[in-house]
Amino acid sequence: MTILLPGAAGYIGSHTAIALVQAGYDVAIVDDFSNASPEAVRRCEELTGKKMPLYEADVADKAAMEKIFDEVKPAAVIHFAGFKAVGESVAKPLKYYRNNLDTTLTLLECMAEAGCKAFIFSSSATVYGARAAVPYTEESETGGCTNPYGWTKFMIEQIAAGAAKADPDMSVVLLRYFNPVGAHPSGRIGENPSGIPNNLMPYITQVAVGRLPQLSVFGDDYPTPDGTGVRDYIHVMDLAEGHVKALEYALGHKGTEVFNLGTGHGVSVLELVHAFERASGVKIPYRIAPRRAGDLAEVYADPSKAERVLGWKATRTVEEMCADSWRWQSNNPNGY
Ligand code: UD1
Repeated sequence: MTILLPGAAGYIGSHTAIALVQAGYDVAIVDDFSNASPEAVRRCEELTGKKMPLYEADVADKAAMEKIFDEVKPAAVIHFAGFKAVGESVAKPLKYYRNNLDTTLTLLECMAEAGCKAFIFSSSATVYGARAAVPYTEESETGGCTNPYGWTKFMIEQIAAGAAKADPDMSVVLLRYFNPVGAHPSGRIGENPSGIPNNLMPYITQVAVGRLPQLSVFGDDYPTPDGTGVRDYIHVMDLAEGHVKALEYALGHKGTEVFNLGTGHGVSVLELVHAFERASGVKIPYRIAPRRAGDLAEVYADPSKAERVLGWKATRTVEEMCADSWRWQSNNPNGY
């Protein structure tokens, strides 16, 4: 059974491709390499010993995608293709709406034409916006997003759920990720942001490896135990395994289901910095900087629905997240 993975040359998709192959699925990947490298897929093949057919195409390109659907005949689609830089989405909103919505519409149209009924989407905790109180459950209020990136996730959830409502044979699973960090334990694949990282863990690892001089901690006056922002960091391999469970669920059900993929534990910026220092043995120079616009004090999941319904639970510790992020970055100081 072949699963089509648009955008799986990227960080979360590449780790998920490995978990799927290890669970016995065949995968085929489509990527335009606008923010990813074919080397990631080559390394996934090396790690699994299995071929992963790789198509270079823009996922919004209907003609190209129709050909790929014809060739691959996927049983399901797990959609990772999208732009994801929050700051850039504020500066270039149309680019974000155009790309993230068009890729999704093309995929759903191709699925309808090909009779492919299972769609799993990389959504984000960002859809909860600033309205809900932690811990977020899947019933917490969504909307009120603070940037166009977040709105694209919110809109794509509506689009996919609408498609499933119109076609009673269709299954849609919306996965709301919290903060993915870590890397495959081999250190061969990992997060490889282009330019200066926006997210905390890749920033820390690039300081550790000497590519950046110091970390700015955005605010130490939040109403949290040490004043710094609290997030639910989840190991990317736990997240990848969550996709395997979500796929099994989608193949056996109809309609739309939403799952939070998080650990349920909040960790502050400074706790993560110190855990990383212990795991790597490298001191991270940092300074306290002003709050970053749009940041919330605390974001963490209630992940109990995924455990109850999917039989999935994150098991890896913050120490493993740091050790694996460090192994990837120190073995690949300049990425792929
Ligand atoms: C961000 C996005 C979120 C997106 C996610 C993808 C915002 C407001 N949210 O989540 O929509 O889904 O990335 O991974 O941008 N921090 C520092 N210094 C840094 C970087 C971050 O102190 O150099 C702090 C932040 O203030 C925050 C925490 O680290 O408290 C995590 O930040 P980050 O990794 O950017 O993730 P989020 O903001 O939670």
